[in-house]
Amino acid sequence: MKGNSKMNIGVLVSGGGSNLQAIMDAVAVGDLDVNIACVGSDNPDAGGLQRADKAGIPTFVTDYGALFGRWRDGAPLPEDFCLETVAARQSLMKGSDPDSLRAFLEKRAMAESALLAALVPYKIDLLVLAGFMRVLTPYFIDALNTDPNRPRIMNIHPALLPAFPGTDGYGDTFRYGCKVGGCTVHFVDYGEDSGPIIGQSSFSIDPGDDLDAVKKKGLAEEWRLFPECIRLYAEDRLNVVEREGTRVVEILPEKD
Ligand code: GRF
Repeated sequence: MKGNSKMNIGVLVSGGGSNLQAIMDAVAVGDLDVNIACVGSDNPDAGGLQRADKAGIPTFVTDYGALFGRWRDGAPLPEDFCLETVAARQSLMKGSDPDSLRAFLEKRAMAESALLAALVPYKIDLLVLAGFMRVLTPYFIDALNTDPNRPRIMNIHPALLPAFPGTDGYGDTFRYGCKVGGCTVHFVDYGEDSGPIIGQSSFSIDPGDDLDAVKKKGLAEEWRLFPECIRLYAEDRLNVVEREGTRVVEILPEKD
């Protein structure tokens, strides 16, 4: 962010984009003072793209499926991709055999290189993952996180991390019989939903609640929490520090 100009955020979505909508609404009513510079998706049919279009926000698609196909066809890898470096840093595929790991990382490098190129024109300060259902590898993360003290990728997860990482947080919470559910906003690191926690919000799971009720309660919390966490970032109030060997986020008091 330069001078007094607004922070530029990019948003990535894979699906309906209700979190994107919550962020756009917070901007529209003046609760969040940022510029949504672009909305991108791995999925050409993502409903979130239409929401962005309607709001006049530029959109782009990085079609992961098509780019994985190019890898299978033997298209060249990005020139700046080094398998050994990325493999040494990643912690998404622990214990997998070398061939599977290579395929996993090379395919994603093809897609992530295109994603990075699509983001360049928008000069974003922060990338917000709002229901973006793809993991990001160190190839992508390191390209954005050039300052270790100021991570630039934020994700929302539908569970109270570190419980229930993965793709079905509310489902896992419900099936485990939890009496409390919640959502978490965190910075993205090399693991799956393992980065420093910025904010969390919880709700009770009452007798008679089914999975749909849990999702409904959870989404309502997400829509409130996510814009709030982005606001803290825009106000420069998130400080990443090391505490007993773990990187955690300190929330700084409001500035006068
Ligand atoms: C949310 O529950 C989010 O936490 C999860 O996927 C869902 C996306 O919802 N990662 P939407 O696309 O924002 O409506």
